[in-house]
Amino acid sequence: MTTRNYRIAPSILSADFARLGEEVKAVVAAGADWIHFDVMDNHYVPNLTIGPLVCKAIRPHVKVPIDIHLMIKPVDRIIPDFANAGANIITFHPEASDHIDRTLSLIRESGCMGGLVFNPATPLTYMDHVMDKLDVVLLMSVNPGFGGQAFIAESLHKVAAARAKVDAYKRTTGREILIEIDGGVKTDNIGEIARAGVDVFVAGSAIFCAPDAAGDYTGVMRQFRENLRASAVA
Ligand code: DX5
Ligand code: ZN
Repeated sequence: MTTRNYRIAPSILSADFARLGEEVKAVVAAGADWIHFDVMDNHYVPNLTIGPLVCKAIRPHVKVPIDIHLMIKPVDRIIPDFANAGANIITFHPEASDHIDRTLSLIRESGCMGGLVFNPATPLTYMDHVMDKLDVVLLMSVNPGFGGQAFIAESLHKVAAARAKVDAYKRTTGREILIEIDGGVKTDNIGEIARAGVDVFVAGSAIFCAPDAAGDYTGVMRQFRENLRASAVA
């Protein structure tokens, strides 16, 4: 069984936005590896959230990478704004860009790591001819737009298929592309998801709505790590 360098990326979509600075500090103190930042435009997805201004506001409070998940259309114009606001990783949905290769190049030119996001029904073929421009592949295990939805089990097959592609690419180039999953990740399914081949786990409601957390996320983060460790020997 492979042991990966697992990363946990709490999604601030489920945080208390009235106390966002304290929330991001608390989740980093509890061991968050990345901060996952969901950008929705009420056009590509039926919800409206946060933009570069909020990214800039939280940047001084956290040293870990900020992972921007763009659920917006069009994509390109806003990329430099996020880079200037301190983003480290920027991913977008291929359906939302008319020129996927160009958008990926723009992310790299702005100094960030870049990647594509695949909705549950979006085929992985979008990654085939842009592998050299991908640092991360984000697989949605819910339909994008809202936190707190149930994990779509078919996503596990997709993780395995994406794993095969990035492993084959690493064998020929030596370069690693991370596989990230987003939606419905809980302490009781993270082990199974890890075994399918994921590197980075986004979790929103499981962390920020954890019962009895009261602003202290060390308990739920420890449980995630323990279940990841157990999955490696299972
Ligand atoms: C949904 C977002 C997710 C969301 C996940 O469109 O991309 O990042 O916050 O929330 P949970 O972990 O509650 O499913
Ligand atoms: Zn997300």
